This record gives sequence, C-alpha cells and structure tokens, in this order.
Amino acid sequence: MLRIQDFAQKKIKGEKISMVTCYDYSFARILSDSEVDCLLVGDSLAMTMHGHSTTLPATIAMMALHTAAVVRGASNKFIIADVPFLANRKGLTASVTGIGKLMQAGAHAVKIEGAKGNIELISHLVDSGIPVMGHLGLTPQSVNTLGGFRVQGKNPKEHEQIFKDALAMEQAGCFALVLECIPASLAKEISAALKIPTIGIGAGSAADGQVLVLQDMLGMGKDFHPKFLRTYLKGFDLIKDAFNHYHREVTTGEFPSEKESY
Ligand code: KIV
Repeated sequence: MLRIQDFAQKKIKGEKISMVTCYDYSFARILSDSEVDCLLVGDSLAMTMHGHSTTLPATIAMMALHTAAVVRGASNKFIIADVPFLANRKGLTASVTGIGKLMQAGAHAVKIEGAKGNIELISHLVDSGIPVMGHLGLTPQSVNTLGGFRVQGKNPKEHEQIFKDALAMEQAGCFALVLECIPASLAKEISAALKIPTIGIGAGSAADGQVLVLQDMLGMGKDFHPKFLRTYLKGFDLIKDAFNHYHREVTTGEFPSEKESY
C-alpha cells in the first residue's frame, strides 16, 4: 500500500500517481486487485451513485458509509475520502467531529475543496493526525458561485488566485493537490512550484498524477463526454448487452439448464 510519504517520493522520482474514484465494495474488490495507486471516495457519489445533478447533497453520513464499504473491499489501497459540502464550514470543533467520522470509517486521508476559509482547518486537521489532500480549479461544491461546471483559471486574475491558493494549501500542510479543469499551462506552473504532487483531472499532462471518475472512465454513463475524458471500456453497452442476453435466455427457457439446477 502507498504510504503518505510515498506521494512526495513519487514526485521526486518522477513517477506519476494514478487515482480512481470508488464508492462501493464490489468495485473496490476489483481495484484492490489492480495496479491503481490510490482510491478517492469522491463526493461525486452524490451524482454517480445517488443520481443527483450536483455533489451538494453528499453528507458526512453518506461519505462515511461509502468509505467503509470501499475500505472493506480494498484494504491494500490508500483511500482518500471527500469532505462533503459545508462539512468543513461548521467551525473548527464541529468540522473536526464530522471529518473524524471519515477517518473512523477507515479513510487514510481526506480531501477538501478550496483554500479560502479552509487554511486554519487544514493546519488543524494535519496537526491532529488527519492527512489532507487539497482540491483547486473547478471545485464542484462551488458550482453555484462558479456559474456552472466550467474550466477555471483562464483569465489572469483567476490564474493568479489559483496559483496563490495552491501555495497556501501546500503551506497549510496538504500532502497532495487535485487540480480540476484548469489550463494545462497553469497546472504545469503549479506542479513545478510545489513540492507536493498535483493530481489532475482535465488539467493536462504536466500534473504529477491523474484522477478519473470510475463510471466515466468505464463508459458507464451515456451522455458525459468532456474533452478531458478518456474511456477505457464501453461499460454502458457491454453491461446492457449482458442484461439483455440474460433476459433472452430466461424468456426462451435456455436458462437455467439442467447443469444449473439441483
Ligand atoms: O468527487 C470527485 O469525484 C472528485 C474528483 C473529480 C477529483 O473530487
């Protein structure tokens, strides 16, 4: 299993980090058998697993439940759990209580979106024994203030702010930083300036690692084709074909056979 120190070590050695989101036991079992470096129980589970249109409905209870299932399926992987919408905005004591539940569910670290207003909490969590991964650029919990799921950091003001926030998150003690949907040139600049590794999604190839949402990379959704996404399986059609195959064999009486009967 990757240890917390390995994140910085991998950057020093120029070894890229692979991360995939995971939300349930059965996929965790498959990922546990894979070479993928680390798993993110992302608050994107509000969308991929619960059918919401944003990540805002995710709660600590949901995150802890899914984290525990992933931990049971992939005890050999470094697992990061997302701090859901507003759970980091309840004042130090209440935030630590909520975030502590993610660690008690078995996560090895948590991820927090945005630097502004979070720096004191990040330092406090790190000092309390909770490793923190930062997340900048398109921060989906702020979809309403960002005015949609749009590429961030394209104008000089946003560019400078994201760069400054990256330095602040490293300074606060983050061990890694997710950069979502920013220009590749900005991700390159940040990755060169930081000692901690950056993990990109829609942030080009200069990031120190990459993360993709499991359902997206397996082609499980029909209608999500952003420019940055590479799909490694035609999951939707392959799985649908299997269900239809089963349906045909049930309706024709081909399944079950005598061999499949007691
Ligand atoms: O929740 C999530 O899936 C994420 C990734 C997109 C980085 O935060």
